[in-house]
Amino acid sequence: MSNVHLLDHPLVQHKLTLMRRKDASTNSFRRLLNEISMLMAYEVTRDMPMQDIEVETPLETMQAKVIDGKKLVLVSILRAGTGILDGMLTVVPGARVGHIGLYRDPKTLTAVEYYFKMPGEMENRDVIVVDPMLATGNSAVAAVERLKELNPKSIKFVCLLTCPEGIATMQKAHPDVPIYTAAIDRELNSHGYILPGLGDAGDRIFGTK
Ligand code: URA
Repeated sequence: MSNVHLLDHPLVQHKLTLMRRKDASTNSFRRLLNEISMLMAYEVTRDMPMQDIEVETPLETMQAKVIDGKKLVLVSILRAGTGILDGMLTVVPGARVGHIGLYRDPKTLTAVEYYFKMPGEMENRDVIVVDPMLATGNSAVAAVERLKELNPKSIKFVCLLTCPEGIATMQKAHPDVPIYTAAIDRELNSHGYILPGLGDAGDRIFGTK
């Protein structure tokens, strides 16, 4: 699968396995997602543009590299995206944040938008869209479609888990958007849940079940 980056680092895989357990508490699920998100941020920002600035060390002056975090926008698909956003902001604290509110129509499984708020000057920014589960792919496709209207410099998509159906839908609609994920599970069930998966990510993050 081209343009899909599987984050198979042992630390990521270990934490994901602990999150999948049905008896993992809300507290530990949220903490593990936070930790994995920091590790995923490390991978997804690997090719971020850098610039040289002048730095005075105790011994001499040098040119050294910094990233311009303000050029990066983390876009959280509400509500479960918040679970990834927090960890990513810990390691890229200067990033701007956008939110897209989408809910899944339970009958059609299509995405319905109820909120959209982005920073200004999106055409100068690199975007990382975050949502723990790329399942049907409908929310991700709709979110990226809306973002493309603002013409950002680049768009990447980060999720914790996906499945062949989600990847296919996303790649058909947006072949230019790379997908970063910690696992590609077996399949989607008829209710739009990933199998074996980890259940409803939003409910598990917020303890709403
Ligand atoms: N959303 C979830 O939270 N879990 C799934 O398995 C699929 C979509």
